[in-house]
Amino acid sequence: MELHLERLPKSLELARKGDNAVLRYIDERLLPGELRIDETDDWKVAVEAVKTLAIRGAPALGIAGAAALTLWVQQACNSDDLARIAEEIASARPTAVNLRWGVERALTRLKELSCPSMEMAASALFDLVQAMQDEDERANRAMGAHGAALLEQGAKVLTHCNAGSLATYYYGTALGVVYAAAEQGKIARVYADETRPVGQGARMTAWELARVGVPVTLICDNMAASLMAQGKVDAVIVGADRIARNGDTANKIGTYGVAVLAQAHGIPFYVAAPTSTIDSNLENGSQIIIEQRSAQEVLRDPIEGVDVYNPAFDVTPARLITRIITENGVYEPQSLFAS
Ligand code: MRU
Repeated sequence: MELHLERLPKSLELARKGDNAVLRYIDERLLPGELRIDETDDWKVAVEAVKTLAIRGAPALGIAGAAALTLWVQQACNSDDLARIAEEIASARPTAVNLRWGVERALTRLKELSCPSMEMAASALFDLVQAMQDEDERANRAMGAHGAALLEQGAKVLTHCNAGSLATYYYGTALGVVYAAAEQGKIARVYADETRPVGQGARMTAWELARVGVPVTLICDNMAASLMAQGKVDAVIVGADRIARNGDTANKIGTYGVAVLAQAHGIPFYVAAPTSTIDSNLENGSQIIIEQRSAQEVLRDPIEGVDVYNPAFDVTPARLITRIITENGVYEPQSLFAS
């Protein structure tokens, strides 16, 4: 199968349209059926896109957060409201620390400017988001290079959720490792967990990998154990939404189960994430806030008397993680913060 990385989609981008900044983003709720790029100059629309998962994935959320604040500054800037609006954006989704990190970077930039005009402030934030986009791609490519070195020739990799180009500005974290390894001819196949209930694996990872020509097999979440038992998985690589100081890692619900299975079968379990996903304020994973989402994601038509539990993330303890891959290198999870 020929590799076509030039077909990788860019998930979102703050761009210029005339004198205005606009946020362009793939509405990921429509994938794989429709690849639609929406455009807005309204910060509220950007926040709604984050809440409804049109824009998703931790690194993409970081850029979306800074971009939403840029749109607000351009639209309605009134410094009395800044703190409230920033908080509204940063709390749109609670688990991925990148969202708050992106908003805080924008706030820091604003503080550096002394008494800027609205135009100056909007222009400085626009430049910041451009820099964040470039940084994101550079970090992903660096993670790709570090992670690819961990894989053997002919590797069969299992991944959960979507930590690809669609979850970042461009290229991906866990899938960035896959792409870098595929360029070296190392990847025999990727198994994509379907990732119930929203289906990021089925709808995004499988689509993204097939689009660029990486051999991919879609599996239901409950098939991973039997694949591993058959010796069909050489490594698991996933992304992350928040990593605590001790290496405990929050990622899409189901990741913890995959890590338990990997350990039971003696398969290395790698987490690939930029340093912006590390939350140095948290001692361990028990302090990570887990987003609870609507029952309808699990059960479209309610059944009387049936309650639904729908946490969007779980925490994988550091002891189950073989290595964490960041843009700076490859680390044992417990020594991540010491570095
Ligand atoms: O709810 P989502 O789709 O935003 O969850 C995404 C994930 O859990 C990803 O694995 C994580 O953000 C890493 S993305 C590089």
